[in-house]
Amino acid sequence: MEWVIIMSVILPLSLFVLLMKKLIKEKEDDRKLKINGGNIPKGSSGWPLIGETLDFIASGYSSKPVSFMEKRKSMYGNVFKTHILGRPMIVSTDPEVNKVILQNQGHIFIPYYPKSITELLGKSSILQMNGPLQRKLHAIIGGFLRSPQLKARITRSIEDSLKLSLSTWLHKSPVFVQQETKQTTFEVLVKVLMSVESKDPDMELLKREYEEFIKGLICFPIKFPGTRLYKSLKAKERLLKIVTRIVKERKAKITTILDHDKGLPNDAIDVLLGDKGEANERLPLDFISGNIIEMMIPGEDSVPMVMTLAVKFLSDCPNALSRMQEENMNLKRRKCESGEDYLWTDYMSLSFTQNVINETLRMANIINAVWRKALKDVEIKGYIIPRDWCVLASFSSVHMDEEIYENPYQFDPFRWEKEGGNLNSSNIAFTPFGGGQRLCPGLELSRLEISIFLHHLVTTYRWVADEDVIVNFPTVKMKKKLPIKVMPVCI
Ligand code: HEM
Repeated sequence: MEWVIIMSVILPLSLFVLLMKKLIKEKEDDRKLKINGGNIPKGSSGWPLIGETLDFIASGYSSKPVSFMEKRKSMYGNVFKTHILGRPMIVSTDPEVNKVILQNQGHIFIPYYPKSITELLGKSSILQMNGPLQRKLHAIIGGFLRSPQLKARITRSIEDSLKLSLSTWLHKSPVFVQQETKQTTFEVLVKVLMSVESKDPDMELLKREYEEFIKGLICFPIKFPGTRLYKSLKAKERLLKIVTRIVKERKAKITTILDHDKGLPNDAIDVLLGDKGEANERLPLDFISGNIIEMMIPGEDSVPMVMTLAVKFLSDCPNALSRMQEENMNLKRRKCESGEDYLWTDYMSLSFTQNVINETLRMANIINAVWRKALKDVEIKGYIIPRDWCVLASFSSVHMDEEIYENPYQFDPFRWEKEGGNLNSSNIAFTPFGGGQRLCPGLELSRLEISIFLHHLVTTYRWVADEDVIVNFPTVKMKKKLPIKVMPVCI
């Protein structure tokens, strides 16, 4: 009986109220645009409620995901207005405008992600937080992730995990690169964040719950038993329990060591536990546990996807592959002859390999944009972004702009070494790791991990890749997980 009342009265009534609220909000947003005057970006709000979302999603599923942006850019200019995923929005495809948004002088822009993401991230997640606490957390985590000590230590762990994984590839036919790299990089990430080893029973638990949690990141933001979001939130509760236990155990073990500032932090938990605020206050334990989980989000999927896509692009580009092999074989021979261990700097100084990584990041656009909300009216390059509007700084549109990159759809790592060109990885037209005060603190660690993977792959195996395609929505993936068949390299 209760269900009948819910289905026939309450549900339609709630939907109606929701619809009306949305329509009033849309009218209000349009009115604001008209009041503000000035050069407000042109564009279309599309259909009532759904706006231009269907077109946006359809282009995400196509082989050219930036076609949504390109079409509007050609009609309205580099910065335009639209209405997607339930929100009116200003989209920037302009590197200079993106730079100002990322630099965020005056703290005008705050992160503003789709509702399902906001629900799943805690309020005190670094990804949503603003102001002094975000800057402090960014600085301490960045300081740790970028430290030469961590890179030196983690290089050995990454090598061990990767070699172990690669040693099994010969017996698998095919090898699903996306699956294999995901497994290894998850273990490395968990080690960096909380020193859990791959054989530890917690590793399996963390993996299982994290997979369940992450499925809800892009879904309908409806939260009741049975929905995707609800299941993901429950998985996050279980994850929090495990991580809180690990944090508490660590606190009990290390308080004295950290209090006396002895030794270097082993992982992100040590870093956060060891932090003393200005008033000599420690960060609360639930804050630490929450942030450890939320720090897994930007790192977990991106690194293995760059590895997978580099394999895909190299398979289709024999010139680049043979140059990679030459460069990496030279290093391997040098190391074999001298009997020395690899240093993290050896991997980072493989210049062509770094260009392959740049080109993969440019084309694959794992994090294709950042979402912000303007806290006040702001004018950038003559465009007015009104207060409370969502702004999407699109990196993929810039990375695929043919005025910046010749033949942008062609995988061409050689473009990064052309002299006289203005392409380098600190260029404002190349922002796979974002920029400004939120520049990815995992940038160097990611590059190191990907370089180690590519080095050991190309110096151990030759491979033949099966046909597969890149799917760009809701996140970048290979449709068939990139199956390949490997053969050993004869030195
Ligand atoms: C190829 C791999 C990666 C890519 C492409 C990437 C990309 C990004 C981007 C674009 C941002 C900026 C988001 C924004 O401005 O709102 C970001 C932030 C962040 N990334 Fe990464 N990331 C990668 C790997 C990692 C790894 C491995 C870690 C952790 C170990 C990590 C931790 C973070 C954190 C904590 C932030 C938030 C920083 C803040 O808001 O202050 N990322 N990442």
